[in-house]
Amino acid sequence: MKALVYHGPGMKAWEEVPDPVIQDATDAIVRVDTTTICGTDLHILKGDTPEVAAGRILGHEAVGTVEQVGAGVTTVKPGDRVLVSCISACGRCQYCREGRSGQCTGGGGWILGYMVDGVQAEYVRVPFADTSTHRVPEGVSDEEILMLADILPTGYEVGVLNGRVKPGDTVAVVGAGPVGLAAITGAKLYTPSHIIAIDLADARLEAAIAFGADLTVNNSRDDAVGYVNSVTGGRGADVAIEAVGVPASFELCTQLVRPGGHVANIGVHGKPATLHLESLWIRDITVTTGLVDAYSTPTLMRLVEAHQVDAARFATHHFKLSEITDAYDTFQNAATTRAIKVVLTS
Ligand SMILES: NC(=O)c1ccc[n+]([C@@H]2O[C@H](COP(=O)([O-])OP(=O)(O)OC[C@H]3O[C@@H](n4cnc5c(N)ncnc54)[C@H](O)[C@@H]3O)[C@@H](O)[C@H]2O)c1
Ligand SMILES: [Zn+2]
Ligand SMILES: [Zn+2]
Repeated sequence: MKALVYHGPGMKAWEEVPDPVIQDATDAIVRVDTTTICGTDLHILKGDTPEVAAGRILGHEAVGTVEQVGAGVTTVKPGDRVLVSCISACGRCQYCREGRSGQCTGGGGWILGYMVDGVQAEYVRVPFADTSTHRVPEGVSDEEILMLADILPTGYEVGVLNGRVKPGDTVAVVGAGPVGLAAITGAKLYTPSHIIAIDLADARLEAAIAFGADLTVNNSRDDAVGYVNSVTGGRGADVAIEAVGVPASFELCTQLVRPGGHVANIGVHGKPATLHLESLWIRDITVTTGLVDAYSTPTLMRLVEAHQVDAARFATHHFKLSEITDAYDTFQNAATTRAIKVVLTS
């Protein structure tokens, strides 16, 4: 088969590789019908994650058709159309049983396209198929369901639910990339008074408005703290969601939040950020961090099926799977191409 193979920092190729085979009784082999590229794949390509071995097939978001299942797989069968989640779950360890599969110690967690070969390929071996795939309902497109593999559960669980967004809240979302836009989508479900999107790029702020933010700040030009205070009678945001992953954006969130509020960090950080306890200790702030667990996937799937969440809106560019290196170029240059998610189909 063909697959997108990582060959070390800055190097990747769409090339011929051996077909995946069942290794464990709990595996399934899935034919990839639709996949996409994540900002995390770009981090891997930059060399930010040296633990990723050269030769690894990238990708952790896919919708496909089950081709073959191991003897221990009982809930999916050949021919089933499934969502392959970015998080694999052994289903048996303490963390999986707490609904915290991102932390799985039984061989799951985020492994696809990272510790084991991923989904940017014609076929993929999916470990723990019973507890790591979701059957796709009739009447929804692959492209819509694809957004449930990573960004929608991430924005919802790590941003909205960890941040305890409530009706009437003012929610500030720092970073309006795919994950920030997913957090805006999730926050809308709770009828906040305001969603204030904050980003350095005007194109991303325009997207944020389309996704349901009602106010925006370009913090390369304007003072985000002053603006959020002006909107909230000087109090600050009830919830500040960090969806960038740099020290400045985290520190901004701790300045935006009101006393008693929540800072929900989603961003993957590579450098230390400063926690200003000297000003925060007195303000009753809760700070949460998290890796997505994907426990919300069934809920989000029902919301997509019921047209309460418009997942198709994330898909801005379309390519054939064999054109994946062009798709990487488009995604990498989002500032000019305005790409949010690029969709690849077989
Ligand atoms: N916790 C998890 O489980 C999880 C899962 C998936 C992704 N992530 C992380 O979420 C983050 C966002 O992902 P994405 O794909 O949307 O990234 P992205 O790079 O596409 O978007 C980030 C946005 O932040 C903006 N930005 C950069 N610096 C800023 C600043 N100082 N102030 C305001 N805006 C700024 C950029 O203009 C861009 O629009 C990344 O760090 C990613 O690795 C975390
Ligand atoms: Zn991802
Ligand atoms: Zn587990």
